[in-house]
Amino acid sequence: MLLEKDALMLWHPYSPLVTDQAPLEVLEARGAYLHLADGRRLLDGISSWWVNLHGHAHPYLIEALHKQATQLDHTLFAGFTHAPAVRLAERLLSFWNGNMRRVFYSDNGSTSVEAAIKLAMQYFLLSGKKNIQLIAIDGAFHGDTFGAMAVSGKSIFNEAFEGHLLPVKHIPFPIDERCLASLQTILEAHEACIFIYEPLLQGAAGMRAYEASLLNKMLKAVHAYQGICIADEVLTGFGRTGTMFASQQVHEQPDLVCLSKGITGGLMPFAATLVNARMEEPFLSNEFGRIFYHGHSYTANPLACALGIASLELFEKENTLNHIQLLNSCQKKGKEHLKSCNSISRIDVMGTMLSVEFQSEEEKGYLNSIRQRSYAYFLSRGFLLRPLGNVSYVLPPYCVSTEELNRVHEALYEFAHTL
Ligand SMILES: Cc1ncc(COP(=O)(O)O)c(C=O)c1O
Repeated sequence: MLLEKDALMLWHPYSPLVTDQAPLEVLEARGAYLHLADGRRLLDGISSWWVNLHGHAHPYLIEALHKQATQLDHTLFAGFTHAPAVRLAERLLSFWNGNMRRVFYSDNGSTSVEAAIKLAMQYFLLSGKKNIQLIAIDGAFHGDTFGAMAVSGKSIFNEAFEGHLLPVKHIPFPIDERCLASLQTILEAHEACIFIYEPLLQGAAGMRAYEASLLNKMLKAVHAYQGICIADEVLTGFGRTGTMFASQQVHEQPDLVCLSKGITGGLMPFAATLVNARMEEPFLSNEFGRIFYHGHSYTANPLACALGIASLELFEKENTLNHIQLLNSCQKKGKEHLKSCNSISRIDVMGTMLSVEFQSEEEKGYLNSIRQRSYAYFLSRGFLLRPLGNVSYVLPPYCVSTEELNRVHEALYEFAHTL
């Protein structure tokens, strides 16, 4: 009944409207597991689209949510403020050694990127610069709104809108110094450049890791031309790469930082764009022309802010960053185990993430047919690993045990031997 109504009334993301694959009905989620209506339980190997940090239904987060809901559920944020918004901002800024100055809240990863791009463009316009060039990395994914689609790599996701997007120059993925040469050429030819990147780990492109040293050189080059660097930490934030933020592994710091996904521990949609002193400078005025005219109904939602604070408290209470190191060692062992599989062409480990690219004669990428096969295979083994084409990856909630991760590695090993 529920599935029939779903099929008639609902439109699921990235999914065909006509399909013989009914969605899986989830009854409840606890810790690292999703419990399905058909009695199965699945290990949530992708943290429910990279959002869940501490495990589902964590009592500390539920308690914080409940407490906040009984006090202040929501209020507009233009002309009003509240303690959860200020306390969360204080905590978020505290990780950046004074480099970040202000927090602009919104409600999902795409809007955090949209706000960052608009802030950067308005910064240059207010500084009298008109010839503004956006730069992004091949294969990037920054979201599905128009600005975010423009800076994302060309793919089936944004193909239909190609002629309607902001002009963006893409540089090669940083596997060697070619990305630097390409970046340099663009920087030299433009008056004002805005460079957006996923630090150390490209997500939707296939969980591809790259070197901090190359990123450092790219950021230095952009800054040498007074360009603006936007770190999209929507995926990499909150411990995923081993440190609280991936940018902490890079010496040169961004001017703007986009955060979302794990920001509430995975319980509510929320986002923040962090802004440094340089970016706020031209806006420090009461002139109408120097206002940032951007906002969302749920900006600074107090429930989400309270969850953000509680999630960061949990990092301290549960020593989460230490546990992340343990998970990282376990993923590295998994990599060693998987190295012997001939059907695997690439294995990356970054923080708590392990990705495996399977060899394929077909074109790589999202539509590769290994996607369907591997998805079904891992589901049948009790693991939710929603692949990116011929790439399968594990990005678990931090409450996962090393024994559970070892079981996922074994399943990956066995799947590799079916190819
Ligand atoms: C790096 C990055 N930026 C932005 C987004 C967009 O976030 P959202 O889906 O919340 O709009 C994503 C989503 O996967 C992402 O991985």
